[in-house]
Amino acid sequence: MKVFEALRKTEEMFKNNGVVDYKSDARFLMQYFLGCNSTEYILRQKDEVSESFFELVQKRISGIPVQYITESAEFMGLEFYVNENVLIPRQDTEILVERALDFLKDKKNPVVYDICTGSGCIAVSVSKMAKVKVAAVDISEKALSIAKINAERNMADVAFVADDILNTKIDFSGADLILSNPPYIRTKEIEKLDVTVKCAEPFIALDGGEDGLVFYRKISKIAFDSLNNGGAVMFETGFDQGADLTEILEAQGFKDVEIIKDYSGNDRVAVGIK
Ligand SMILES: C[S@@+](CC[C@H](N)C(=O)[O-])C[C@H]1O[C@@H](n2cnc3c(N)ncnc32)[C@H](O)[C@@H]1O
Repeated sequence: MKVFEALRKTEEMFKNNGVVDYKSDARFLMQYFLGCNSTEYILRQKDEVSESFFELVQKRISGIPVQYITESAEFMGLEFYVNENVLIPRQDTEILVERALDFLKDKKNPVVYDICTGSGCIAVSVSKMAKVKVAAVDISEKALSIAKINAERNMADVAFVADDILNTKIDFSGADLILSNPPYIRTKEIEKLDVTVKCAEPFIALDGGEDGLVFYRKISKIAFDSLNNGGAVMFETGFDQGADLTEILEAQGFKDVEIIKDYSGNDRVAVGIK
């Protein structure tokens, strides 16, 4: 079968099996299988594809996200290595990185942390794009080893620390910016998530406790106790958590609390200034 025929067949199979991004997933898988970029791909439409391509297609249909199959995800225009030990970087998280870059614009040698770093997508992008050193924290050694690979591949200046932020042993004092995309899904809601998130992505990356806010409360306190005056804490939030975050940050003493919406009009980033 030729590439263009296999692609059409794959799109059809994905569509019939409820794969939402069936066109882009089919294309990513094919490019991965052929080992080519999008430009080379166009020139290879009439190449023959072996049947083993359809083993990858079946994996996707079984619920494994395409990024785990290809072990690759794009974030802020950079490439990240991913596997099932880390959350796949989301486009929504780029809003947090953009806000952090704006904050860092005129800062000299700022002290920056990324708590709950996972694949390192936030720490690596901020370090590379703002040309600053970032310290990145996660409880998972497996996630940290992936984040290290990503810092090396992208030549970013990131130091990694293993720590349970809910019982932290780190002294964050003197920080200028604390970033975090922590687990924020309410425990009971994890069951209701799409199968590709619920079954494939690490539970520890999702579970934000009974009300989804456990990490926000803890990190807000750490941030207020540690940030320099004028420093900022910035979180990614769930689509309906803006009001809760405003309350948590204001109760903690932060001023100029800001909730930034994503492109779908949902709450996405919360900012507090000390
Ligand atoms: C939602 S993921 C975010 C990953 C990454 N920052 C991103 O934006 O794609 C949350 C991360 O928090 C980490 N985590 C969970 N519990 C933690 C804890 N108690 N202390 C530190 N990190 C924790 C998980 O291992 C996971 O990598």
